[in-house]
Amino acid sequence: MSSQPKILLTRAEINKAVARLAAEVRRDYRGKQPLCIGVLKGSFVFMADFIRQLELPVEVDFVRLSSYGAGKQTSGNITVVQGLKTKIKGRDVLVLEDIVDTGLTVSFLLDYLRKKVPASLRLCALTDKPSRRQVPVTIDYLGFTVPDKFIVGYGIDWNEKFRYLPDICFID
Ligand code: IMP
Ligand code: MG
Repeated sequence: MSSQPKILLTRAEINKAVARLAAEVRRDYRGKQPLCIGVLKGSFVFMADFIRQLELPVEVDFVRLSSYGAGKQTSGNITVVQGLKTKIKGRDVLVLEDIVDTGLTVSFLLDYLRKKVPASLRLCALTDKPSRRQVPVTIDYLGFTVPDKFIVGYGIDWNEKFRYLPDICFID
């Protein structure tokens, strides 16, 4: 496999999408103090940019799930590797995900969070790859729909590589 990443979405396009998402969330959460929960590791760059554009007094926490092995396919066997540090009962929770692919990871996470009885629970995903969906997922705030390609960059990895790329790229 060639691992030379090619640009799919430029940093300028990403910046514009993050600003749009922040504006949508700001409008919907006016007067609230949402808790943004990022899914590690892929969402950390998105989270950092998003909360600084949001202009709301958010709090942040992270969960780490394992779904992928070393390959490019989700195993469907999802476990919580690092759970929440924050109590979410009664909180307005906004989950930030880098990419929704089969949907298995995020639907597992939403079920896990729902059991903790937040006041509200929504999903903000930077990218969506709907062609590969296995379970239905409602994405409340979406940055981009991406084609059925393996994407990297802007925090997203392939075998821990390429997270540092400022653009969203694809590899063959
Ligand atoms: P899902 O469970 O298949 O929806 O996969 C979700 C997770 O798999 C995402 O949060 C990513 O971490 C990872 N993933 C899915 N597609 C890609 C991709 O194209 N590039 C890198 N990671 C991906
Ligand atoms: Mg992820």
